[in-house]
Amino acid sequence: MVDMIQMRVVAVLLLLMLGLATAGLPGSGSDPKSSRRLAPCQICRVLVTSFNTGIERTAKGHYTGGDSAWEEENKKTYKNSELRLTEIQEMLCSEVSVGKDHCHEFHINNEDLLEQWWEEVYRFAGEDLDSWLCINQLKVCCKDNHFGAECLPCPGYPDSVCSGHGKCKGNGTRKGSGQCSCETGYAGELCETCAPLFFQGQNDGEPISCSACHKACKGGCKGSGAKSCESCKEGWEFDEQLECIDVNECLSEQRKCKNTEFCQNMEGSYSCLACDFACNGCFGDGPDMCETCAEGYTRQGKICKDNSIVERQSQMNTTRYLTYCGLAIVSLIVLQKNAALASVIGVSFGVYIAITEYLLTG
Ligand SMILES: *[C@@H]1O[C@H](CO)[C@@H](O)[C@H](O)[C@H]1NC(C)=O
Ligand SMILES: *[C@@H]1O[C@H](CO)[C@@H](O)[C@H](O)[C@H]1NC(C)=O
Repeated sequence: MVDMIQMRVVAVLLLLMLGLATAGLPGSGSDPKSSRRLAPCQICRVLVTSFNTGIERTAKGHYTGGDSAWEEENKKTYKNSELRLTEIQEMLCSEVSVGKDHCHEFHINNEDLLEQWWEEVYRFAGEDLDSWLCINQLKVCCKDNHFGAECLPCPGYPDSVCSGHGKCKGNGTRKGSGQCSCETGYAGELCETCAPLFFQGQNDGEPISCSACHKACKGGCKGSGAKSCESCKEGWEFDEQLECIDVNECLSEQRKCKNTEFCQNMEGSYSCLACDFACNGCFGDGPDMCETCAEGYTRQGKICKDNSIVERQSQMNTTRYLTYCGLAIVSLIVLQKNAALASVIGVSFGVYIAITEYLLTG
């Protein structure tokens, strides 16, 4: 009995939580994609595309069954029927994702025009919907490669709009300046020349193709590679073959890095990197590249080592040498009693010392 009540309470709670969760989900209320507003020409073309999808969807006809002659007749009447228009309009904008709400609104506002096109134009296989509605009736779009209120042709129309290397601003709409916005590497009103620091390729016919100059070049180049530069960028200089080569700034007289840094050359520049902790001035990275050792460090061979480590080492060395001395004395004492035994002991101590030293220097 109690179990039943508990289970019911749990079930109700679960349902409540589920309800709250779905209510909070984005999309069940307002989806940012579908509520987005589109530009005038764009929304017209979204509607036209959706309408054309509807035409395709209903192309197979509506009625089925009956003999084939009857079916043919029905297909013909259905093709331009009001019924088909209604079926297309019912699903209009349903597959649209971005601007769906706007599409529905646009549909409602232009229902009469859609009907008019269906009755007076489509029936007689006339102008397509995009051109009739968006360009000529509503005047929100232009033909491809035309722009602005007057639908003027884009620069270079018709053969090479923006030389094929740019976009015409306002292309296909009643907006925009019609100026070419060129791809990187191209410049000029028609994108017909190469941008600074780009050069024209071998096939300098139409359309031109431009490639980037070598990174060492300043003020342009005649071709690819560091040999073709007009001049060299900072950090580079011409060699005897007039090729721009990297300047090794680290070799130059005036020292550019701080005392606690070393210089590292890079292509076109250099950088100053901090010396190792063990160094007081250095030629490079690591405790083996010190000019002098930093305070608290002592040079041992090539390397500057921490004093505390060196101290401990020297203590260990002292202990070791004392041990060797002890062993030597023991051998000498035994030698006075028994020469044979002494030589055995001496040889084993020798071997021991040799191995120890070998491992230490190892
Ligand atoms: C203009 O738009 C059409 C259709 O989107 C496209 O094919 C054409 O390349 C565009 N032209 C330019 C220059 O932007
Ligand atoms: C201790 O002995 C080692 C090995 O013989 C040697 O390399 C090192 O320099 C010595 N250290 C000191 C502090 O004398």
